[in-house]
Amino acid sequence: MAKVIDGKAVAAEVIEQVTAASNALEAQTGARPGLAVVIVGDDPASHVYVSSKSRMAKQCGFKSVQHTLPLETTQAELEALVAQLNEDPQIHGILVQLPLPDHLAADPVIQSIRPEKDVDGLHIVNAGKLMTGDLEGGLISCTPAGAMLFVRQTHGEDLSGLNAVVIGRSNLFGKPMSALLLAANATVTTAHSRTKDLPGVCRNADILVAAVGRPRMVKPDWVKPGATVIDVGINRIDAPERGEGKTRLVGDVAFDECAEVAAVITPVPGGVGPMTIAMLMANTVTAAMRAHG
Ligand code: GUN
Repeated sequence: MAKVIDGKAVAAEVIEQVTAASNALEAQTGARPGLAVVIVGDDPASHVYVSSKSRMAKQCGFKSVQHTLPLETTQAELEALVAQLNEDPQIHGILVQLPLPDHLAADPVIQSIRPEKDVDGLHIVNAGKLMTGDLEGGLISCTPAGAMLFVRQTHGEDLSGLNAVVIGRSNLFGKPMSALLLAANATVTTAHSRTKDLPGVCRNADILVAAVGRPRMVKPDWVKPGATVIDVGINRIDAPERGEGKTRLVGDVAFDECAEVAAVITPVPGGVGPMTIAMLMANTVTAAMRAHG
């Protein structure tokens, strides 16, 4: 049986370090890290995520501001709010929750965030720094940064000689994850929906990272014996066994079966999920320390 990574425990350690750094910054400069989270519309899942981000920011000792905008918000109104937050010296991190409602274009909003405040790591300046191997100068997207922490804890800093396969090529996860693995010297394949013989490609992976949004897609015969499997999927499926109309969360990996083949595996929930919020807090304290350094 594979070792199951406890994402909640690792996230709690990160939060402890972030809180200590936040307290130290305040003691030295009088400034507290400030995080502004912006949400437009009333998608229930997004509201749950945003509330936990705001709550965790408070728990870390940050100034935490949540802007909840109505569904009718225009592009100009949203960009005006970002412009105001860009100028606010008490705000060091700005996060605009995605997806935005259909009538709003996400990219101009994200690119209007000052790169130093882009705690999501989605601005082209931050994406470009990561792509060119500057891991210290910018801000790195939270979920890949969290997944990478698991990889480092398992394999160390240097992944020389290891094959890594990332399934998924999004700007939010797949591309930055591949860039981080490459920067750590892994031999990286970015697979996606058009990849030929995906199971065969995955079987080659010492480190297999799945971020596709398809419940339990990765089967045990896709997994190389002894591999590290990181599951980034969060899929809500019907769970009639829990009662009528009940649902539950599963990942992109068929966990029970794959755990018999892998050496290390992350669960869903309780794996990568808690790390995303922890790394958001880490990015915010980093941004604040740079602003006041
Ligand atoms: N929606 C789902 N995940 C994320 C994330 O990491 N950042 C933002 N801004 N929106 C998201």
